Amino acid sequence: MAIVLLLSIFLLFLFPQEGHGKKKQWLDTVGNWRSPVYGVEPIPCHSHNDYLRSPPLFAALGTGCVSVETDIYFDGQELYVSHYEEDRTQNATLSKLYIEPLTEILKAANSGGGDGANRPQAGVFGAAPSQSLVLVIDFKTSASEAWPHVNEALEPLRQRGWLEHWNGTNRVPGPVTVVGSGGVSYKLVTANNTYRDIFLDAPLDSLKDKSDLKKKSMFKYNPSNSHYASAKLDKATGIDITWIGFRNKAGIRKLRTQIHEATDRGLLPRYWGTPGRPRLFRKTLWQVLIREGVGVLNVDDLAAVRELRWTLPWKEPAAVTSQQ
Ligand SMILES: *[C@@H]1O[C@H](CO)[C@@H](O)[C@H](O)[C@H]1NC(C)=O
Ligand SMILES: *[C@@H]1O[C@H](CO)[C@@H](O)[C@H](O)[C@H]1NC(C)=O
Ligand SMILES: *[C@@H]1O[C@H](CO)[C@@H](O)[C@H](O)[C@H]1NC(C)=O
Repeated sequence: MAIVLLLSIFLLFLFPQEGHGKKKQWLDTVGNWRSPVYGVEPIPCHSHNDYLRSPPLFAALGTGCVSVETDIYFDGQELYVSHYEEDRTQNATLSKLYIEPLTEILKAANSGGGDGANRPQAGVFGAAPSQSLVLVIDFKTSASEAWPHVNEALEPLRQRGWLEHWNGTNRVPGPVTVVGSGGVSYKLVTANNTYRDIFLDAPLDSLKDKSDLKKKSMFKYNPSNSHYASAKLDKATGIDITWIGFRNKAGIRKLRTQIHEATDRGLLPRYWGTPGRPRLFRKTLWQVLIREGVGVLNVDDLAAVRELRWTLPWKEPAAVTSQQ
């Protein structure tokens, strides 16, 4: 008896919320398991090289990142989550590491009863159910060869209506937005005029095209075919990690122009290759990028992003209506 009492006190000490009868966040009102990241607040962070994290996907989701990026290596049979042929690991496939866990999380988030019933298209973040999670797939081998296999791998999400897509006239929101990068070409993405659920990572430093007309609906890169517009920071703007770098007025002007060109087209601007050190400078650089309106921060160090105070304004992209 004394032991039970002691144990109870010990458990109360370890898990005080249990003892005080607080609502269990991971259960909905009728007791369904919700999701491991139910209470997480999303932040505009892109988990670069996410497949190298331990664990992949979940470290980023727990941090609140609204975007994850994985390399894929297609060997003619399987879509390995890997940068190089020699790094392929049995069972580390696109389906096992990303598609299956996402399907399970979304099943929980959209399970009947409780609050799931009122939002049949809930995303992974319970705190912001309309927030789409972006899955960037970086094709490391021939994109046209891997394309049909990636399409097949996405089927569990597609058949449940969980992929954001273009339906021929409109961008239809969904809990997961897939972006193809690497060798994925404009031609490959736009081959189908009536349905698309893999979007381009458009070139942020060369969005203008001679085919662009004055009317917004006629931009070459637009939400019917693209989601992000990305470029390498120093190459595209001349901004680097040094003080001179982010006091570089010409660089900031270029950055602003590029960010405007992307948002005019309904795309989210993203810079990669943002330097990581020294850390103090990195933080200032991140703040400059957020202030100037990037869509997401490209992040390698998730711990650093968890420490940032997200008091800076950050807008979700506006809902996009018909454009072609
Ligand atoms: C891959 O998964 C199968 C089935 O779950 C398992 O039997 C096998 O041991 C796994 N291989 C590795 C290398 O983990
Ligand atoms: C495309 O989506 C829009 C908005 O959801 C809808 O009004 C339209 O009927 C859809 N078109 C097709 C072909 O499904
Ligand atoms: C476009 O995709 C839809 C949906 O997968 C399919 O039914 C249609 O045949 C495709 N059209 C072309 C031209 O590939």
